[in-house]
Amino acid sequence: MTTHTYNIRAHAAFIVIACALAAISGCSKPAATAPTEAQAAREALHVAATSQIDAGRYLVKIGGCNDCHTPGFAMTNGASPAEADWLTGDSVGFSGPWGVSYPANLRQSVQNMEEEQFLEMARAGKGRPPMPWPSLMAMSDKDLKSIYAYIKPLGPKGETAPAALSPGVEPDRPHIRFIPQMPARKS
Ligand code: HEC
Repeated sequence: MTTHTYNIRAHAAFIVIACALAAISGCSKPAATAPTEAQAAREALHVAATSQIDAGRYLVKIGGCNDCHTPGFAMTNGASPAEADWLTGDSVGFSGPWGVSYPANLRQSVQNMEEEQFLEMARAGKGRPPMPWPSLMAMSDKDLKSIYAYIKPLGPKGETAPAALSPGVEPDRPHIRFIPQMPARKS
């Protein structure tokens, strides 16, 4: 047996043992306790503010929601537009391997949703990048409810964002490419 063959066999044996250990430890854990603990830990974390709406405004500000959902916000470092025009969505899309996604008009979205539906959507996190779904999924119910409570009374405003495009469909309007670009060659 050459050293090379020996190494491959040893490596394979290690993988088999590691997999077996993982399977055993997985089986020994009661499946139901893990999510409950994680949920309890998450629920213990939430923003404290004088009102639910203030908590929601704070979360929207620090969560960067305006950067994508409010046209002009990121480019002006938050100087504009005024709060009355926040979260109205954008028709400039983000293109990448997922196709093209458009930041939704959240002012409209929440009008059509009950609080519980908003939470379900955030928990499911089933949407296209670059929407930071993992951030919403990690938020406690209390914080998600505050975001909802803040946006809803702002009322509906603005146009509905364009529908997302599937991969390979060429967008007919301006879009931002979320694809790594190679640096220009130096001659
Ligand atoms: C980097 C850009 C970006 C940021 C930052 C961002 N979003 Fe989004 N968001 C999007 C895009 C793009 C979509 C559309 C996703 C799709 O097509 O599946 C979206 C969709 C959503 C939706 C689904 C609405 C609907 O009607 O379908 C919700 C809710 C949402 N965002 C909430 C938030 C909140 C709350 C924040 C801040 C914590 C936030 N977003 C930050 C880009 C962003």
